[in-house]
Amino acid sequence: MENSFDLVVIGAGPGGYVAAIRAAQLGMKVAVVEKSEKLGGTCLNVGCIPSKALLTSSEKYLEALKHLGTHGVRVGNVSLDLPAMMAHKDKVVKDNTAGIEFLFKKHKITWLKGKGRITGANEVTVGNDKVQTRKILIATGSDVMPLPGVGVDEKRIVSSTGALVFNEVPKHLVVIGGGVIGLELGSVWMRLGAQVTVVEFLDRVLPGMDGEISVTMKKILEKQGMKLKLSTKVTGAEARGEAVKLSLEAAAPSPEALAKGEGGNNETLEADRVLVSIGRRPYTEGLGLESVGVKLDSKGRIETDAHFQSSVAGIYAIGDVIAGPMLAHKAEDEGVVCAEIMAGQSGHINYDAIPNVVYTEPEVASVGKTEEELRSAGVEYKTGKFPFTANGRARALAATEGFVKILADARTGRVLGCHIVGHEAGTLIAELALGIEFGASAEDIARTCHAHPTLNEAVKEAALAVDNRPIHI
Ligand code: FAD
Ligand code: NAI
Repeated sequence: MENSFDLVVIGAGPGGYVAAIRAAQLGMKVAVVEKSEKLGGTCLNVGCIPSKALLTSSEKYLEALKHLGTHGVRVGNVSLDLPAMMAHKDKVVKDNTAGIEFLFKKHKITWLKGKGRITGANEVTVGNDKVQTRKILIATGSDVMPLPGVGVDEKRIVSSTGALVFNEVPKHLVVIGGGVIGLELGSVWMRLGAQVTVVEFLDRVLPGMDGEISVTMKKILEKQGMKLKLSTKVTGAEARGEAVKLSLEAAAPSPEALAKGEGGNNETLEADRVLVSIGRRPYTEGLGLESVGVKLDSKGRIETDAHFQSSVAGIYAIGDVIAGPMLAHKAEDEGVVCAEIMAGQSGHINYDAIPNVVYTEPEVASVGKTEEELRSAGVEYKTGKFPFTANGRARALAATEGFVKILADARTGRVLGCHIVGHEAGTLIAELALGIEFGASAEDIARTCHAHPTLNEAVKEAALAVDNRPIHI
């Protein structure tokens, strides 16, 4: 076994594997330590890729079942073949993870199989083997946040990982947490026939996003049949046979309830499956960070400087294990920039230009600042909004729900944020991420020719609306 490298990366998720490839491109001799049987991390194995496969397949099922009639297409006897749907998802995962193995071979990257532990500023131990390295990159990602009193068994009470492999459609799925995972995987099983109830601690779904998005998505999801219990917390779960009984309480009890010494609105909810999706936490278990002096912040994330270097010279960290949004493309971009910095180049990431997409139908996509953030920072801004009901292509697609909202600096017109609810919103947001990266004004976007008839024209119209001159409303 080779035992001396320029760079040892710990973790082969989108952060780690991308950093390894970029470092190899820049001439470094690279090894990646990965404890799982497959490369690709959370994203490829139990995250982005399998969830999007199921979201796409379940949407196709629903389309055949309910929506194709709108287009004059009659289909008889639509039925669900869940094992085939799961087999498609598994093949997509397999092809993607095998693709990373191919890329490792192509770039002569060594895969050190096993759990890595840092045993010195220039030493990583994998099993009984020690390897020496000039630099170490920690890309160990994140893990499911547990909920006290609700023990995950990955059968009846599951994390996102268990919710990707149900072998039958639950009758009643209770989702704890109305964030990204809850709404995406809740949508999958609702489309396939489950009754879905989402219990959310705060008074809105998708709490980190622009307020108008939360309000709009609440209405849309409820119309689709999802039950949303907001401002409610789960205080315990009791599993009996196939059923789980959940105890619920108001998250912010009324003064009357408090006076009576009660949490208020105590109730129980029965389900055959429960998904716990209340967030993820950085994963640093067993890495040996204390022994080498790598510091963590108050949330357990590895502290890094602007160059992704930890408190120990030569040890770097990227992705879900450091601060910032827990997104695959954020981890990938950090991987590239970090490898370039290690190679003596300069690089930076504009964290204001990182898009965030929720793959419900309609999708939600956002980039830059929300209205709430601009207001609390005292920034004067103008708003341009355009509904998909007024977009020709959306009408042809029979997908007219939602809107594009652009927030621009009141004085300069510079785009500060964009928030979209709509079909293909995740694709539409790329234009705005590019705009923010290049410092575009709403006027720049409005003056750019957009093909007709496309959903993108709603973006152009929202940019025109910033200056009160949309054409089609
Ligand atoms: P990870 O992908 O978590 O990879 C870390 C790797 O390190 C793992 O393979 C782990 O086995 C390995 N590892 C950990 N410790 C050690 C050790 N000591 N030794 C060896 N190996 C180790 N993000 C998006 O942008 N878009 C999406 O659509 C999306 N969908 C998601 C859906 C779900 C259900 C989930 C759970 C997440 C989703 N995410 C999505 C988030 C995305 O998966 C993460 O942001 C991303 O995977 C983070 O990449 P990473 O490289 O930092 O870590
Ligand atoms: P999240 O942070 O998106 O949502 C968690 C939700 O749970 C929040 O709304 C929160 O208020 C609520 N909550 C917290 N404690 C609670 C409690 N005790 N009871 C009820 N509700 C409670 O986290 P989620 O959905 O688990 O996803 C984790 C991460 O994975 C996300 O932060 C995201 O970055 C990433 N992800 C990204 C996706 C995408 O980009 N499309 C898809 C899925 C995950």
